[in-house]
Amino acid sequence: MHLICVFILMSLIKSLDSTICLAKLVPDQIRLAFAGNQGVSVGWQSFSCPLTTSNPNPTPTVIYGLSKTNLNLTSINGNSSVYDTNYILKTSWFYSVELTNLQPSTVYYYQIKQSNYVSASNIFSFTSAPIYGSRSRAINIITYGDFGVDGIVEDILNGKCLFERALGALQKMLPVTDFFLHHGDICYADDSPEDLFLTYEAAFNYCQSMMTNITSTRFYMTAVGNHEVNCTEIPVLNQLCSSSKKNQIPYSHRFNMPSKQSGGYLNSWYSFDYGFVHVISISCESDFPLAPSGNLLDTTTQVNWLKNDLSKVNRTITPWVIVQCHRAWKGSISKADIKEDGIINCPSCKAAFESLLIQYNVDLYLAGHVHWYERICLNGVVNTTQYVNPIGPVYLINGAIGSPEGSDKLSQRSNDSCFLSTDPGFGFLTITDPSHATFTYYRVSDMAILDQITIVKKR
Ligand SMILES: [Fe+2]
Repeated sequence: MHLICVFILMSLIKSLDSTICLAKLVPDQIRLAFAGNQGVSVGWQSFSCPLTTSNPNPTPTVIYGLSKTNLNLTSINGNSSVYDTNYILKTSWFYSVELTNLQPSTVYYYQIKQSNYVSASNIFSFTSAPIYGSRSRAINIITYGDFGVDGIVEDILNGKCLFERALGALQKMLPVTDFFLHHGDICYADDSPEDLFLTYEAAFNYCQSMMTNITSTRFYMTAVGNHEVNCTEIPVLNQLCSSSKKNQIPYSHRFNMPSKQSGGYLNSWYSFDYGFVHVISISCESDFPLAPSGNLLDTTTQVNWLKNDLSKVNRTITPWVIVQCHRAWKGSISKADIKEDGIINCPSCKAAFESLLIQYNVDLYLAGHVHWYERICLNGVVNTTQYVNPIGPVYLINGAIGSPEGSDKLSQRSNDSCFLSTDPGFGFLTITDPSHATFTYYRVSDMAILDQITIVKKR
């Protein structure tokens, strides 16, 4: 009898979900990404009504314009998606709407429009990308990997609330920042049961919600890390990770990278142009021989795509080429590397990608995974911060901003390591003109500059 009553109550609530909602539903986790030439993707998350799974916003719509008081343009060029979040009380829906044919270097205001029973968002703004090839000003990029909500280990090693403190530091840089590159390991939701005592979804939602102040106003371009792939970080808890947490499924719903516009795949590999810079994001987790996290497609498609993308870059228009990927294949050895699998850095990444990066004269290779900041020396030259005409990419390992797992511990310093710090911080890359760039490592706690190099390329 009791079960029948519950069933009737559930059915009643479900049948009324289009008219009755027991919670105030709002767009959250609002995030921007580039979406092809002069295009922007606006993404967000909303919960369905409690105890239901139906889409609360069947026609995701963004209104936008050149004035905060005149959002006279409308886009419904988007989609909504859902995956099994294993939580009957709250089902997350994820949305993406593309704004296309934007004027270059122009401030746009936008708002996620109210739907049946999800309220409208606040009005946010962004500045669209410069026109392809434009050299009218310097380009400023914040770079880091391995950023997530604090865990117990992180609290002990670096003090409480590093995640929130790091967000505060990043926000100080927003006025002078064009976009972000996050080199994988985003939010660490799969660490959350052990380190945060939160569910996977609760941790991911909190993390992305807290990042909204940044991601709603600056383009946030992500690479896939091991924490986005298969939820295997805590072996003893693997069985608790449902199939909906495997194969990059949450990451594929929660971010919208321009793979469609660049011939890439999911959020795994893609590229975009920003003024006189070409940026490539590849997966160091899957889809090449002996990839650390297996394959989503095969071992050749990504590598062939990378070769094709690099070969198409017109260096007279975009002289700078930057590649981000989660793992490095140079640098020092952490104790975690030895303890976990005995594999130092990522030799299979090196085998798959390095020769292409050298062949096509890639300027910078940005990685994370190791939880420190490390700068690889200029072609064996130590004691210089002037990287003049380096042979091959400048290597920067930049995974120290703050992960629930804490900073890594040094086991063996590499001969080609010219700077290493475990102080939580982030990178700031200023590309001044076709031949000059500066990379600075800022410490989160006091914004002190811990490391700075200049890169000079004779074109
Ligand atoms: Fe990682």
